[in-house]
Amino acid sequence: MTVTYPKKFQNALGAREILAQIVRDREIHAITLNRYRYSEQRSCKDLTNLIEQLDGKSPELIRDLSRHIADEARHAMWLTDLLVDMGVSVGTPPGMSYINEFERLLDSETKDPAKDLDDFLISSLAAINVTEKRGCEYFSAHIYALKQASQTAENIKIRETIEKILPEEAGHVRWGNRWLGKLAAQSPEHRQKVEQAKKKYAAIEQAAYESGMDITLGAELRRVANLVEVTNNMPLWERTQYLMERLPQTLLAPELQMTRLQAAQRIWNRNPQEFMEKFVPMFINGIKGLESSAKPVKATK
Ligand SMILES: [Fe+2]
Ligand SMILES: [Fe+2]
Repeated sequence: MTVTYPKKFQNALGAREILAQIVRDREIHAITLNRYRYSEQRSCKDLTNLIEQLDGKSPELIRDLSRHIADEARHAMWLTDLLVDMGVSVGTPPGMSYINEFERLLDSETKDPAKDLDDFLISSLAAINVTEKRGCEYFSAHIYALKQASQTAENIKIRETIEKILPEEAGHVRWGNRWLGKLAAQSPEHRQKVEQAKKKYAAIEQAAYESGMDITLGAELRRVANLVEVTNNMPLWERTQYLMERLPQTLLAPELQMTRLQAAQRIWNRNPQEFMEKFVPMFINGIKGLESSAKPVKATK
């Protein structure tokens, strides 16, 4: 079976490179930890929604999901304790939210357990699985970066917290793989649906991830390219409607403008020289990316 792993940001920056930068700056480090906290907390709500949608169907899955929620709630609790002890914000993270973007891109049409329970299970489990993989990628890169960073009491405490979470996230990935494998084994048609869903949700997750990271100029155009890539993994008849529904917001992207502005302000206020040296080249790279994005969009990864 296809194993789909998260792609690097714009095929260039990997989680390790990004995290190595993040752990050097306490303010950005705290914002990143708060984004983890927010994601963990939010996944409790999303998994609870899933149980409610199942409404008693597949009791075995409901039992697994209730354990899953307990894990995510514990992760949110550990991160909240950590952030409060650090004396930093546990407010809703500013700007673009990876989860909101992921949910915006999710196709709601297949999400009806009453229509076809197996289709619903396949798409729900494939969507959960791909975000858990991204979590593992980030947490292991974060631990790696913290081992290289200066061993302050705070850094050690952050590393110990993430080290408690990572094995459970890896368990969630294995759990999702087992369920998807079981569903795929039911028939050749099921196998095909599972393969299709894995590709589709990997493309959706990649688009959500990049839009959360992408604050450089030309981001809107790359988001359109990502949206097209998402539709390339859909049956033909679903593509047009999906694009038409999401294109206006993808182009206007008010949240994206806010993220860009806040990031610029933060760096400018702290260190005008750093702004010129780091942030301005980021914009210039954005323009270069814009020129190279004129080439055709790849259909698959
Ligand atoms: Fe978690
Ligand atoms: Fe998880």
